[in-house]
Amino acid sequence: MALELKKLNCTIAEKKILNDFSLTIEEGQTHVIMGPNGTGKSTLSHIIMGDPIYKLDSGDILFNNESILSLSPDQRANKGLFLSFQNPLSIEGVSNSEFLRTALAEKTGSKVGLFDFVKQMDQAMDDLKMDEKMLHRSINKGFSGGEKKKNEILQIKLLKPSFIILDEIDSGLDVDSLKIVGDNLKRYQKENPKVSILIITHYPRILDYIKPDFVHMMVHGKIVKTGNITLAKDIEQNGYRLNDVSENDINE
Ligand SMILES: Nc1ncnc2c1ncn2[C@@H]1O[C@H](COP(=O)(O)OP(=O)(O)O)[C@@H](O)[C@H]1O
Ligand SMILES: [Mg+2]
Repeated sequence: MALELKKLNCTIAEKKILNDFSLTIEEGQTHVIMGPNGTGKSTLSHIIMGDPIYKLDSGDILFNNESILSLSPDQRANKGLFLSFQNPLSIEGVSNSEFLRTALAEKTGSKVGLFDFVKQMDQAMDDLKMDEKMLHRSINKGFSGGEKKKNEILQIKLLKPSFIILDEIDSGLDVDSLKIVGDNLKRYQKENPKVSILIITHYPRILDYIKPDFVHMMVHGKIVKTGNITLAKDIEQNGYRLNDVSENDINE
């Protein structure tokens, strides 16, 4: 059993954001969450990673049967959790390659040989059609929206997480970049069949590359409907059709 989110409740500035949110994602599964703006999707992903800004009122998060609530974001990352941010942060003064080599060393517990590292990096940058110059620039500093998103996939390819959360990885990508990102994720999943993926998106097009086992519709901090790819296509065509959702589901 990979990740169990158990009755998560979160309040921000006296507003209830997560409302008894529960979901279990097994090893090797791909789940999709779709939901209107402001419904708590990014908050959920930050809470899973342990961002100290977000505090749970109640609930528990189990990763491989162990509660991870007391772990720091770094410790969670070292256990294999990875979040691709909706708005990836830039870090001034730390180059992409320095960051990745340090993160890799921290994860594996030993320093990675420079030769091997450069080889892996070159291959990954090539796969993502990224400009080599990006390696030596400060992380995400002055990167375009698409370059930032590709940089998140570069981190995945190098750090090899076992549980990946993609928060709107497809937003702001042009068709060609979406294909590159989608193809790389697809290949990563094929090469690592035990990897679980949680995709937060507004559009089903990324699902042409990564096939979901379940699609969930999230409204007002909880899942109100679960289906398959058909639900994603239905949402794209008809919106969230809140009329279909009972009052109980959307009232806080
Ligand atoms: N750090 C924060 N401070 C204040 N309000 C926040 C913060 N993070 C999220 N919120 C609020 O929580 C709600 C859910 O936001 P978010 O999780 O980003 O939604 P989504 O990703 O579904 O669009 C919004 O009303 C947002 O303004
Ligand atoms: Mg969001």
